[in-house]
Amino acid sequence: MQFSDKIAPLKPSAIREIFKVLGDPSIISLAGGNPAPETFPVKEFQTLSAKLFEENGKNALQYGLTEGYLPLRKKITERLKEKLGIGRDFDETIVVTGGQQGVDLTCKILCNEGDVVLCEDPSFIGALNAFRSYNTRLVGIPVDDCGMQIDKLEQALKKEKKAKLIYTIPTFQNPTGVCMSLERRKALYALAKKYGVIIIEDNPYGELRFHGEEIPTIKSMDEDGIVVYCGSFSKILSPGMRIGFLCAQKEIVSKIIVAKQVNDVHTNLFFQMLTDAYMETYDLDGHIREIRELYRKKCAAMQAAAKQYLPANVSVTSPEGGIFLWCRMPETVDSQKFANRLLRRNVAVVPGMAFSPDDAPSNGMRLNYSMPTEEQIDRAIQQIGEELREILF
Ligand SMILES: Cc1ncc(COP(=O)(O)O)c(C=O)c1O
Repeated sequence: MQFSDKIAPLKPSAIREIFKVLGDPSIISLAGGNPAPETFPVKEFQTLSAKLFEENGKNALQYGLTEGYLPLRKKITERLKEKLGIGRDFDETIVVTGGQQGVDLTCKILCNEGDVVLCEDPSFIGALNAFRSYNTRLVGIPVDDCGMQIDKLEQALKKEKKAKLIYTIPTFQNPTGVCMSLERRKALYALAKKYGVIIIEDNPYGELRFHGEEIPTIKSMDEDGIVVYCGSFSKILSPGMRIGFLCAQKEIVSKIIVAKQVNDVHTNLFFQMLTDAYMETYDLDGHIREIRELYRKKCAAMQAAAKQYLPANVSVTSPEGGIFLWCRMPETVDSQKFANRLLRRNVAVVPGMAFSPDDAPSNGMRLNYSMPTEEQIDRAIQQIGEELREILF
């Protein structure tokens, strides 16, 4: 079969083997990226959907506007302004089908084949694959405990004449869980402006802070209309609804709307109306506070287990929010092989290579704490510690 040049660069995931076993109940999975299902407001949605069908069923089943359901768009616009200082006169906010679609469409409307996307290394595989599908070239910028390393970003911007986009997840990054410092956010913005590059700020975890001080979003600094902000309800209400949003300057948004028309006409209207009704009727902020508390406890359990069981030459990041932490093993460890060995101990993790813009081997691995119980976290980290001791000493 001759597949298109667009889809050819998307290789089957190197971690497919790991995901195959995830249905097995004897495996403790730290490999997923799902929010904890106990946080889904099932009862509330049940009540609201019955009411919605009773009062507004025919509209909920009709086609809708590509930009999104107006009452929801208004609520999102206000929330972004109020909570994150996002949205100037030149900006517009639209509903998209998950943050993933926001990232994908932004690349689609801005990048030609061969254009360069600068991204964190490691970074979110869904976004990397979206960029790959447009035959762009990915250039990874290493991440440390304060986010993307800005000196390396500047070197790359100097070198890469076809740089078009900087893709960043500055808050509780996937996969490392780290936050970019305010200083670096400002520097990144200044560099993007200097080199005429658009920033995609992907922020699905921003509301899940359980420690420390809020750090302003890059979009809140955007006086020049160079930041495309992608957000989502996936991690604060439900990922299955596929409700995300995007805020950018109007010229960019108008092209994204045309691309979205082609892509899916509009985001599922019923779930847009349901999200709107939820925000109208219930206390979304109160709900988010409960999620944060749950993840704070689970993260603390993972940190404590790491301290207890992992050898001293293995480090883990200390996230202040979100759902992941990153484990750095000694350079001699190939995390792909290590992850396969761990499966024999009934523990699943995602090896670092899966998040590499250039498929480079990695001594890191991503550990998720939103899905497992505290007891499972403890057992899994103990197994990781034992396996590490076996191969290192
Ligand atoms: C960094 C990042 N961006 C975007 C997404 C996609 O989220 P959504 O469900 O809103 O499409 C995810 C999902 O895990 C993510 O981790």
